[in-house]
Amino acid sequence: MNPKLNHNFHLVNRQDTTNALIKWYDKNARKLPWRISPTQSKNGVKPDPYRVWISEIMLQQTGVKVVQPYFTKFINNWPDIHCLNQAEETDVLALWSGLGYYRRARNLKACAEILCTEYQGHFPADEKLLLKLPGIGKYTAAAILTIAFGIPSIVVDGNVERIIARLFNLRGSIDKLKPQIRECMLMISPNKRPGDFAQAMMDLGATICKPLNPQCPNCPIDSFCKAHKNRTTNIIPAKAKRKIKVLRKGYVYLGITKSNKIAMVVRPKTGLLGGMMCPPSSEWYIDKHPPNNPPMPGTWVMLNPIVRHAFTHFDLELSVMIATIPHIPKGYILKSFDISITDSTPSLMKKAIILGLENYKP
Ligand code: ADE
Repeated sequence: MNPKLNHNFHLVNRQDTTNALIKWYDKNARKLPWRISPTQSKNGVKPDPYRVWISEIMLQQTGVKVVQPYFTKFINNWPDIHCLNQAEETDVLALWSGLGYYRRARNLKACAEILCTEYQGHFPADEKLLLKLPGIGKYTAAAILTIAFGIPSIVVDGNVERIIARLFNLRGSIDKLKPQIRECMLMISPNKRPGDFAQAMMDLGATICKPLNPQCPNCPIDSFCKAHKNRTTNIIPAKAKRKIKVLRKGYVYLGITKSNKIAMVVRPKTGLLGGMMCPPSSEWYIDKHPPNNPPMPGTWVMLNPIVRHAFTHFDLELSVMIATIPHIPKGYILKSFDISITDSTPSLMKKAIILGLENYKP
């Protein structure tokens, strides 16, 4: 234990902090479709690991508000791991459309297959085994162990980092504080109701201990919070330096037939937007456009507006090319040229298609 951390935070405070947080959660837990209520939890009800897993994968890169309707639809379509294992990957990708980071959906399918063939459809309650499954990293394994199985683990996301940094008045960039934050989290993590504790931290971060204007008067642990005491909540955590993102540019080609259908291709399984049904596009070059080579004959024109999309590691600008095409080459699939395209087409490509619909007069 780092002696600096223990300073002024005696055993009694740790226990009190944990208890105050759990008491607050019992009254204020958000009702989320993948959760069991605090009352159920106190009565020994355990959440379904399948639902916990699906929710945690969806929440990896997407916020709670957006995830909720997707989660409900997903569970209605595939209520358990065996149903998911039987599902077509394209149907799972289609449901995922709009959530982004489609690799998550492909990993879900791969993971369902492993669980059904090697684990009789049950999740292993073991960190090492969970980490071997596709799409499950340290955070997700910890969340599944803690929330689904009640095995105390350190569940630290951005919200939790902020709460801990404030509670212990940790100065400096979060990146450098990560080991200390885990130590602090360990100090206040209970053996009793660890899943509710983890979710209480998430709820506190989302509703009270917010990045800007934290609601300290409503905080159940304000009396233990060193940043509150030192009036440093507005400077903790320290602002991270903005990473400058690369800009990539490319073309997307909307080839429209006389019967108003659009030529689409399924992208290769690996790589960005892998396995998704998209209009053909060029490579995406850094800072400049690649050569503009439409993939099929036609009188191609460029539409004025550009489609922009932010990926994690780069921003993308796609110029939209459109043409009426006399016939479609091999390997393309014809789809209706309207906004009803809901198959496994990513939202970025849907934006391009909508632009085409709005601006193209053949
Ligand atoms: N973010 C990540 N996991 C979560 C969960 N289980 N509940 C709420 N927000 C979350």
